[in-house]
Amino acid sequence: MKGITKRFPGVLALNKVDFQLKRGEIHALVGENGAGKSTLIKILSGVHTPDEGEIILDGKSVSFTGPIHAIKVGISVIYQELNLVEDLTVAENIYLGNEGESWFNLRKKNIYRRASELLEKLGFSISATEFVRDLNVSEKQLVEIAKALATNARIIVMDEPTATLTEHETKMLFDHVKNLRARGVSIIFISHRLEEVFEIADTVTVLRDGLRISSDEIANYTRERLITDVVGRKIENMFPKENKVSDEIVFEVQELNVPGYVHNVSFDVRKGEIFGIAGLVGSGKSEIAMGIYGGLKAFAKECRLLGKNFPIPNRPDIALEKGVILVPEDRKSQGLVLVLNVLENVVLQNTKFISKLGHLNWKEGKKITSDLVDRLEVKTPSIRQRVSNLSGGNQQKIVLAKGLLRKPRLAIFVEPTRGIDVGAKVEVYKLMNELANQGVGIIMISSELPEIMGMSDRVLVMHRGEQREVFERSEMSQEKIIAAAMGG
Ligand SMILES: Nc1ncnc2c1ncn2[C@@H]1O[C@H](COP(=O)(O)OP(=O)(O)OP(=O)(O)O)[C@@H](O)[C@H]1O
Ligand SMILES: [Mg+2]
Repeated sequence: MKGITKRFPGVLALNKVDFQLKRGEIHALVGENGAGKSTLIKILSGVHTPDEGEIILDGKSVSFTGPIHAIKVGISVIYQELNLVEDLTVAENIYLGNEGESWFNLRKKNIYRRASELLEKLGFSISATEFVRDLNVSEKQLVEIAKALATNARIIVMDEPTATLTEHETKMLFDHVKNLRARGVSIIFISHRLEEVFEIADTVTVLRDGLRISSDEIANYTRERLITDVVGRKIENMFPKENKVSDEIVFEVQELNVPGYVHNVSFDVRKGEIFGIAGLVGSGKSEIAMGIYGGLKAFAKECRLLGKNFPIPNRPDIALEKGVILVPEDRKSQGLVLVLNVLENVVLQNTKFISKLGHLNWKEGKKITSDLVDRLEVKTPSIRQRVSNLSGGNQQKIVLAKGLLRKPRLAIFVEPTRGIDVGAKVEVYKLMNELANQGVGIIMISSELPEIMGMSDRVLVMHRGEQREVFERSEMSQEKIIAAAMGG
């Protein structure tokens, strides 16, 4: 790709970007939220047309008429926003569109057998006959990956494919990607997890604010150089930990049960504490959150909030009213109204801005929203931008902003920095510290071990719905947490 420029109203998303992909290489594309990564690959896959620049494939200039055209010439994309048809089965989704046929034609073929074979080869434990609507986010991601790999593509683009995967699934995916590379397939890999970039990439290109900052073989990058190229400055401390824990207990639960997910879990959270909950995907850690918050049916022997009896709520609004907030993991479906703008998303669901007479205080809302947008470095031309036009990571920042605005007693964050770039992560941690230092108890549920180790005061480790260990900060180690999470 040569000199690619793309403008959206108020945004120069790409500014004369060159990007070269060799045959049989894994090329990582990295950069902050809103840097232009997804836009670049949407141009490569025919979703957007560039304002300027040229796409050259095998030495010939091409201009795509649309996504189908790009698929036909062998470019297959796993998009960041999942694009599955909820009412079709896994197998139908995998082969739909890939063969340019309608779904009822596909039914006649052996798509179920083929899909099952593919899923098994990939080591993904989902069934080909299941309906996509019954899958969770991580499983949907696996289907999306299988769909892209089912084609005979020459170029496969993966926009943050691993964000919701378990370590095992990620490893299987990487093995498969390496096999593809050996067969001469070229892969573009987008991720905010720099460890993964070092693990799998041959080449790296860094974008920042629509500009290409660097492009080089992986061997020529150190971790420091990569971070500096991505954020444009040095980051001294990834995990600023500045919260003070008091002795006072904010929240305690004994023998919490979420039927089917969590069995007899007991813990307490103190004022100012960041209480981590770790465990593999499927260990029940996010279900603990949903249980306490009234999002899933749950019961407990005893549960207290600030010393008072707190019956496990059966609806989120009851939890909210008592001062318990949750920043969800599946932000697309639970966190945002995509057709509204940033300001409306922040203000409309927040009672803080509603006066006694029921009027909305837009002036106050505007000021606070602007402040948060600045602090979290949300890339948006204005707070009146529709949320659906923001990049994936910037949408997540808005969900966080909404949560951080309330003055809760207990705040539950589920995967708080998923999809968020390395610079903004530090800001999220700082905001968490601030919240804690106002006396809020924080539960941080995370699959990212460095984050758990870096930020939590204590960590509870889950394994298959049961609690294995609670480690104090002084006794935490990566090895101990992993061992407990594996059931040891
Ligand atoms: N359809 C659109 N309309 C208006 N602006 C858009 C649109 N799509 C993207 N943008 C803007 O273009 C810029 C680049 O967005 P892009 O999605 O490419 O970022 P990204 O690098 O993929 O970020 P992330 O890591 O958060 O996914 C952002 O400022 C974004 O808000
Ligand atoms: Mg993106």
